[in-house]
Amino acid sequence: MLVAHISDLHIGDSTKNGTQNLQKMVDVLNNFEVDFDCVIVTGDIVHGRSKQDYKTAFELLNQLKCPYFVITGNKDGTQNLQNALELYRPLHPRGDEKIGLQYEVNDFDVQILALDTYKQGVMNGEMSAEKLAWLEQRLKENHSQKPVMILVHQFPFDWRSHTFDNRKPSWYEDFKRIVSQYKSMIKLVACGHLHNPVTGNINGVPVVVAPSVNWRAKYDFKKLDDIVADKKSLGFYVHQIDNENVVSCLVTFPL
Ligand SMILES: [Fe+2]
Repeated sequence: MLVAHISDLHIGDSTKNGTQNLQKMVDVLNNFEVDFDCVIVTGDIVHGRSKQDYKTAFELLNQLKCPYFVITGNKDGTQNLQNALELYRPLHPRGDEKIGLQYEVNDFDVQILALDTYKQGVMNGEMSAEKLAWLEQRLKENHSQKPVMILVHQFPFDWRSHTFDNRKPSWYEDFKRIVSQYKSMIKLVACGHLHNPVTGNINGVPVVVAPSVNWRAKYDFKKLDDIVADKKSLGFYVHQIDNENVVSCLVTFPL
């Protein structure tokens, strides 16, 4: 399975070039030298939750030639994104009231499990016991050991980047416990939120953050709280996933 991974569109942030960057990104993905099975968008579709911004974002995303799947970021709000999907992408899975925008996609060789960590006012998000149980149940029911890709907005590690992470929530540990338990079937955890390409691993399972389409965070590694915003997007990831391996390649292009 060949997946293009983009993130953090932040449409509606008037200080940046998000709309222009997203149009360019869609054009690059549509004209890429190979076809993707799907595009994944790991959260923060809009910056301020307005209907108009969702309309702009989905009008551009709907130009993609292949299927695409979005998840909730801390800037989205579950209900806002669910409402926007109903209006502008009605065939996209929408989850429900209890678990929010969590859903599974079984149309490919790799199963996609999309998680919703949205909690109002909490940058690092939260996952209720019900949401975690939903994830565990999906993995438990995967008797054929089909490879799995999990989509979740936050990078579930405490690594001192406090511009993005104002506290370490308890769901990180619960999530890592579940991923570790099913590490043989989970090939990739795809994230956003950090606006920069960053990787980690959970008990050997790769965790990959795609850069923001809107603006790139340039870190000062002496002091990770100092982040410089670069309005140019760095690009996107291509993930090639099969039963055995995942290979992730950052593709950059000039804006
Ligand atoms: Fe975010």
